[in-house]
Amino acid sequence: MKQQINTLLQETLDRLAHLEDEQELERLRIEVLGRKGEIARLFKQLGGSSAEERPALGKLLNEARSRLENAFQEAKSQTTEAAPRASRLDITLPGRLPHLGHLHPITKVGMEITEIFQRLGFEVVEGPDVELDYYNFEALNIPKDHPARDMQDTFYVTDNIVLRTHTSPIQVRVMEKQPPPVRIIAPGKAYRCDSDMTHTPMFHQVEGLMVDRKVSFGDLKGVLTIFVHQMFGPDVDLRFRPSFFPFTEPSAEVDIQCVMCRGAGCRVCSETGWLEILGSGMVDPEVFKMVGYDPEEVTGYAFGMGIERIAMLKYGINDLRLFFDNDLRFLEQF
Ligand code: PHE
Repeated sequence: MKQQINTLLQETLDRLAHLEDEQELERLRIEVLGRKGEIARLFKQLGGSSAEERPALGKLLNEARSRLENAFQEAKSQTTEAAPRASRLDITLPGRLPHLGHLHPITKVGMEITEIFQRLGFEVVEGPDVELDYYNFEALNIPKDHPARDMQDTFYVTDNIVLRTHTSPIQVRVMEKQPPPVRIIAPGKAYRCDSDMTHTPMFHQVEGLMVDRKVSFGDLKGVLTIFVHQMFGPDVDLRFRPSFFPFTEPSAEVDIQCVMCRGAGCRVCSETGWLEILGSGMVDPEVFKMVGYDPEEVTGYAFGMGIERIAMLKYGINDLRLFFDNDLRFLEQF
């Protein structure tokens, strides 16, 4: 019987070592330690053994039982802690991707505009957001008492320092620094004290300037036509409409065929079929004089456009303020 006890103990420990499944473990436990199990059977058998053998055998059997009980306890805690968690882990499940950021739509459209002109040979430059009155107005032929200053809703920092109301001061800064020819494109922020569906106090513009001998209005039309066709597609029509800016003469605003109704007339284009996208013109001789260029020697064209406006038309967005709300549901569409 001693032999039987030892064998049972050894075999059970062996089997236990190879079990992984909780159900098999339980089955084995019942088979060995259960009410009608091997251990119970051996206890019954103990009754048939001789009186002198009985105490030693009983002790051996008790020891075997408690060793097995401990062993089962241990095995069970291992399966419940490790194995089920491992078997619940589906390693084929795709991992959670980290949340990737991306460029803001205004940054993207600004880059797109800039790149079109870079391909045409324009050099990218920048200027300061906080600007001297001189560059923002004076040197652009907008003297202190000029009515055009009212149009601009200027944020003043001091009497002669402003937040630039457009990117045009960059024209002056570039011409002051270098002799002609000049061919630059200048993206940046502009500020006006204004806020509604189509105006935010801070917005973005791209300025363009080309100065050389014999630059004509035809060159301006050519370059802007290429721009519109690359930005909005080759089928989109454009027109030059006479306008006024103190720093260009003659001046023109450029309209493109309404992107919503393709020129038929709708609410977006106020039934005209056209949408304004930029201001432009031939650099006024007064501006050349200010920067020391000889208006008899050189001519030039300049243009300026709002990036938000271009982005709204390109993506069909009706409220400018969406660009600055930082709502991810909006931003993630680009
Ligand atoms: N600076 C003008 C504006 O903000 C646009 C413009 C730029 C017009 C260059 C003509 C030439 O409205």
